[in-house]
Amino acid sequence: MAETVLDEEVFRHTSFLRTADLNRVEAEILLERAARYLRAGADIERTLAGRMVFNLFMEPSTRTRASFEIAAKRLGADVINLASAGSSTKKGESLRDTLLTLDAMGADLIVLRHAAAGAAAFAQRVTQAAIVNAGDGAHAHPTQALLDALTLQTEFGRVEGLTLAICGDIAHSRVARSAVVLLQLLGAQIRIAAPATLIPPGMADWGVTVCASAREAAQDCDVVMALRVQHERLDGVLLPSQREYAQFFGVTDAVLAAARPGVKLMHPGPMNRGVEVTAALAEDPAYSLITDQVTAGAAARMAVLALVDAAQQRLAARSGSNTP
Ligand code: NCD
Repeated sequence: MAETVLDEEVFRHTSFLRTADLNRVEAEILLERAARYLRAGADIERTLAGRMVFNLFMEPSTRTRASFEIAAKRLGADVINLASAGSSTKKGESLRDTLLTLDAMGADLIVLRHAAAGAAAFAQRVTQAAIVNAGDGAHAHPTQALLDALTLQTEFGRVEGLTLAICGDIAHSRVARSAVVLLQLLGAQIRIAAPATLIPPGMADWGVTVCASAREAAQDCDVVMALRVQHERLDGVLLPSQREYAQFFGVTDAVLAAARPGVKLMHPGPMNRGVEVTAALAEDPAYSLITDQVTAGAAARMAVLALVDAAQQRLAARSGSNTP
């Protein structure tokens, strides 16, 4: 059967800030492009040749940062990596001034990770460049959600109709927020398990089923996704006992036994082994999709960079053709 190819010109986002900005067609376009990149391996058209991409990471990162760099390089862009350590931020430069500096250098795309929720939207207002949000505080992490969708699509052949349990520190999780929105948009059902102190206000509006334990949430699930306990955002008060947390919200053999046969395990990384997931399960090839998620990361980020840049170029071409 011939593959239906979506009309990519429908994708009009000249920045990528949060999954809540997407409609279903746009989400499918991103996913289809990402899947194409994942299949293609190294054989890829260098659509970002001559474009300048800054990776501005003001918070620690391994996977996200490296995969954005891989993504931009595979597409042929000129890539400049900046981290808060070693940059003028350490001398007190504001985010605004850093962004204006990159703008003046001719940045086409800025990939931004920042500890403050709303930093990506702020960056979009300040600069001419396209902004791709690589995680802003506890707010959003849209490319993580896309790589999760791509991992599911690759493993199950679909996202529609899957049931996922997301377990852990939901309150501080930009991964959970972005994933819930995107996976629901693509037709998945979501169940959540978190200690009462780590359930954010307004969760009733998320359209998810909230459960009292990981074992309860895993029932009838195709996938269990564990989230990292965000110690750096917890302040030590919301999680009285790590042992008790692991007992009720950690992913163990008993949790996966409560799920559907063939259940898969996901985790965005980095992991606290033995807390949100047992060390053995994290590496068990029968269950774990954790390294598949990492592999999907570069392809998902390539799709975002390529489609955002194409939208930006179309916009520039249109406004250019309006000038007398
Ligand atoms: C996540 C993040 O930074 O939001 N990690 C990632 O991007 N792979 C999750 C986390 O830090 O817990």
